[in-house]
This record gives sequence, structure tokens and C-alpha cells, in this order.
Amino acid sequence: MKIPRKNNLANIPTPLQAVSFEGEKIFIKRDDLTGLELSGNKVRKLEYLMYQAKREKADFVFTSGGNQSNHARATAVAAAMMGLKSKLFLWGREKTAAEGNLFIVKFIGSEIRFLTKKENERVNDIMFEEREKFLRRGKRVFVIPEGGSTTLGIWGYINFVDELSRQINMNQISGILTAAGSGGTSAGLLLGTALKKLDLKIYAVNVLYSEGEIKKKILNLAEGCKLQFNLNAEVPKDKLVILDGYSTEGYKNISSDKLKLIKKFAQQTGIILDPAYTGKAFNAFYDYFLFEKSNRKVLFVHTGGIFGVFGKRQQYLNA
Ligand SMILES: Cc1ncc(COP(=O)(O)O)c(C=O)c1O
Repeated sequence: MKIPRKNNLANIPTPLQAVSFEGEKIFIKRDDLTGLELSGNKVRKLEYLMYQAKREKADFVFTSGGNQSNHARATAVAAAMMGLKSKLFLWGREKTAAEGNLFIVKFIGSEIRFLTKKENERVNDIMFEEREKFLRRGKRVFVIPEGGSTTLGIWGYINFVDELSRQINMNQISGILTAAGSGGTSAGLLLGTALKKLDLKIYAVNVLYSEGEIKKKILNLAEGCKLQFNLNAEVPKDKLVILDGYSTEGYKNISSDKLKLIKKFAQQTGIILDPAYTGKAFNAFYDYFLFEKSNRKVLFVHTGGIFGVFGKRQQYLNA
């Protein structure tokens, strides 16, 4: 087994917090606290990806996402921290008043190309075509696919399992629940728990892809990583559970009933959840596990996304 190297960018270990909500105790892993400009789950993947970008002597990193992408924002910030330039390929329209994540990437000086939904379907091709152009101008480019979810990036969440097992007796929990966008976080968790031979379920709340698509993505990433790094574990397919149906309003939207729960949660715990990922994941957590009578708990991973809240200020206030 060869373990890849990384740069230290994230404030880790992140706190493991026990909070009380509606009279029930919840364990929350605060991965929203991996940093400030760099907050959220993406930083763990970027530690590995940015190390590789530097190693390949890149001048630029390219990545993609929605116009409120946390991943694109974290990549832009990490690039600035490491003396690299960034170009982002964002699905959405250019707005004059940039909010949240889009504000940060503009302010930090990333080059941005906006894509229509149709163009976004071939965003990887577009990034590689653009890379060719940069190469011809003598610029080296490291391309990071959607969400930083590659067989290298998911090491961030393989390590998360190690980190967690130093914070809690793993027998106290029966599973880990996370939002799933590109699937890398769930893939890392699945592989990380398998490597440590833990009997845990990984609950992935899909917010972007269908149940079938996200399952395939997660399992392919985990399997690919296992093969590439010669890992001594089988990918435990039966431990992966997709909790589907929590993003029927669309990836960029959030329904008012979900917002009501987000507001109640913030008012009882002081913790703010975002509209695209953690707010939806928490709604699933509430339905399936909050009131479950079991002495083993399901742990909720707060994967960040705070800047996504600002574009939806009015909806949050009206909830
Ligand atoms: C706040 C937040 N939570 C969860 C996720 C999902 O992570 P993944 O893409 O690894 O499935 C993302 C990114 O996609 C995110 O920005």
C-alpha cells in the first residue's frame, strides 16, 4: 500500500461535537471548520490534489462546478495560498452583484468562464481543450475534475476515518451520514472504514445525481482508488446506502419546509447548514435517525457550504 503525500491546508482534526436538538443527542463532525476562506469538505481532497499540482509544476489549476460551487471557491483559495493561478469553469450566468462563493472567487482573482447547462455537460472536455491552449502558450495546467473527486482526492476522507477513530470509540456509532455531490466524500468514507475493518454504514444523501448515478460514481471511485494504491480491503458495496429524494427541488434550490428545519436547528444549536448540501442531508438525518432508539448513533458530517447561504438570505429569513 502506498500512501500519497499531501500539503497541510486544512485545520484538522476538526471538532467532534455532541449537540442537543429536539431533546435528542447528535454527534456532528464539524468539517465546516476546516478553515475560513477554505472551509468545508473540499479542503481535505485539495491537500492531496494541490500537492500533486505543485509536483507537476503547474502554473494554473482548472476546476469546475456551479456558480456557487464550494469546491471551486476552495480551489481558488488553495491556489492563491500556494502561489498558483486558477481558472474556473462555472455553470451559471454571470451576475453583476456576485454573492457568496462567487464573490470570493472573483475577489481572489480567479479567471472565470461561465457555461450554460448544455455546455456544462461536456465541462471536462472544455477544460482539457482550454488546457491545450494554455500549454501552447507555455503554461502548465493541472485539471481538477468536479468536486475534487478523484482516486487521489478521496484520500482526504480515507484519513478522516482515522481522525474520527481517535476522537470517539467507533463502537458508539453505527454509520456516518454525508451529503453527496460528486461522491468523493462518501467514497473515501467507504474505503476508510473498510481499511479499518469497521462495521459502519455510509449514508449518502444525493443532491445532484440520481440514486443510480451517484452509487456508481461512489463505488467506481472507491474501487479505482483501491486498485491504484493497492489497498488491502474490499470495497463493501453493501455498506453504502443512498438516501434518495432529498433534492427534488433541484440542486441549486431548497424547499421552504427544509428551510424551516434548518432554521430550527440553527436556533437550537447555533449551527448553520447550507442550502445545496448539508441542509438537505440534515433533513434526511432528521427523518431517518434523529429519533431512532438505538445505543449506536449515526454521525452527521457537516461538510460546510456557509457561503452558499448568502445568495439565499431572503429565503432563510422568511423560513
Ligand atoms: C458543502 C458541501 N457538502 C458536501 C459536498 C459533497 O461532497 P462530494 O462532492 O465529495 O460528494 C460538497 C461538494 O460537492 C459541498 O460543497
